[in-house]
Amino acid sequence: MSVKIAPSILAADFAAFGAEIEAVEAQGADWVHVDVMDGHFVPNLTFGPDMCRALRPHIKTVMDVHLMIAPVDPYIAAFAEAGADILTAHVEAGPHIHRTLQAIRAAGCRPGVALNPGTPAEAVRPVLDLVDLVCVMTVNPGFGGQSFIESAIPKVAQLRDWGGPDLHIEIDGGVSASNARRLVDAGADVLVAGSSVFRGGSVADPAPYGENIRAI
Ligand code: DX5
Ligand code: ZN
Repeated sequence: MSVKIAPSILAADFAAFGAEIEAVEAQGADWVHVDVMDGHFVPNLTFGPDMCRALRPHIKTVMDVHLMIAPVDPYIAAFAEAGADILTAHVEAGPHIHRTLQAIRAAGCRPGVALNPGTPAEAVRPVLDLVDLVCVMTVNPGFGGQSFIESAIPKVAQLRDWGGPDLHIEIDGGVSASNARRLVDAGADVLVAGSSVFRGGSVADPAPYGENIRAI
């Protein structure tokens, strides 16, 4: 599987999301990662389905929606209708992860399951047959620009072994040129990157986005 870079718009200019997405896709982004936070599951607030609907026409690649919310189930239909391609729920977000992932598939999205740095890989093993993607968090979710947590790396090889070659294994948090190689060698094929992609550029001067993507 070729390695995909999924810039997180959490690090983009919040007043110019449409233009930021078009700029970063033109500079080589493979997917667009949208971080949904509820101020409850994580200690920060971002945006919901209406924002996803507004972003949809600007995304030519893949809208990769990372739900850092609890509960998840009441909002699945709204995010699906808003045009999410991938909908990722946290295994820690509720007691019935099978139900949640089945509901995501039934709503027409590709299901993903995310696990926090403190959650062992074993926690998602029972649902690997229900998902297209596992998101291995390498920071505690809630904010961009945090330090990468090294101890999550062994989970990647374990999940690749269990999930086989077709499972997307996405890494989220603190990804940069200094750890990307090791993550891919461990078995990751999707690298989310916020601050390390948007650093140094802007809608007016997007060339650094491309340089940053190629450096990862
Ligand atoms: C963290 C988010 C990440 C974040 C990554 O809660 O899920 O997607 O935007 O940002 P960086 O790459 O800056 O760590
Ligand atoms: Zn994320």
